[in-house]
Amino acid sequence: MRTPFVAGNWKMNKTVAEARDLVSTMGVGLKAVKGVEKVVCPPFTSLLAVANLLGGTDIGLGAQNMHWEEKGAFTGEIAPEMVKEFCKYVILGHSERRQYFGETDETVNKRVLAAQKHGIIPIVCVGETLQEYEAGKTAEVVRRQTLGALAGVEAGFAPSLVIAYEPVWAIGTGKASSGENAQHVHGQVIRPVLVELFGQETAGAIRILYGGSVTGANAAEFFSQTDIDGALVGGASLKDDFVLIAQAAAA
Ligand code: 13P
Repeated sequence: MRTPFVAGNWKMNKTVAEARDLVSTMGVGLKAVKGVEKVVCPPFTSLLAVANLLGGTDIGLGAQNMHWEEKGAFTGEIAPEMVKEFCKYVILGHSERRQYFGETDETVNKRVLAAQKHGIIPIVCVGETLQEYEAGKTAEVVRRQTLGALAGVEAGFAPSLVIAYEPVWAIGTGKASSGENAQHVHGQVIRPVLVELFGQETAGAIRILYGGSVTGANAAEFFSQTDIDGALVGGASLKDDFVLIAQAAAA
């Protein structure tokens, strides 16, 4: 009942010309994949160019971050209305934002509430560090981050939420989580928090993605798990591999 969801987080990669090239080549394969929500998230500078190429297709566009204020003296930031001009989705609370740019559960929550206010669908990222994983704190950390990010989200908006579980130790390392481990976090930690917040029915409608070294070769292992509804893909979303991942989600 949950439509699979595959999103490519391009991170800080691709000039406008490179972004156009990538979308033009990959778009052909992506368009052919049916029954999957497909989204690409280029840097802000390429949103306009990519939006122009994706117009009229079933491939969605997302931003990689967003500020919560409406406008004003926030040098270097992008406001919700600016994101909304191009994007249906926005990635919020990515671990790289938390790690390198000081984002906290509280500021992630402000961004999520701003997305709700403006009708932008947030892809909310949670996930423990290697140190927390090794200390057996995964459930505690992921629960805290999920509750923190979603405080104040209204039941009416909740079904459109997308949550991404991205264990930091699996991001960009080539060491993906096992399907079984990710399923445990999705099914025993995140989904129960969603039930607590929004009730069984709404929680059952929310897509929970796995992210962290997903490739065309390992994607099927994740998608075969009950509570894994798709993937948030970094490195492999810059290659044709992303089409293979979308195909695996459709299968
Ligand atoms: P990789 O797929 O490169 O590990 O990155 C995952 C990620 O951070 C997506 O947001």
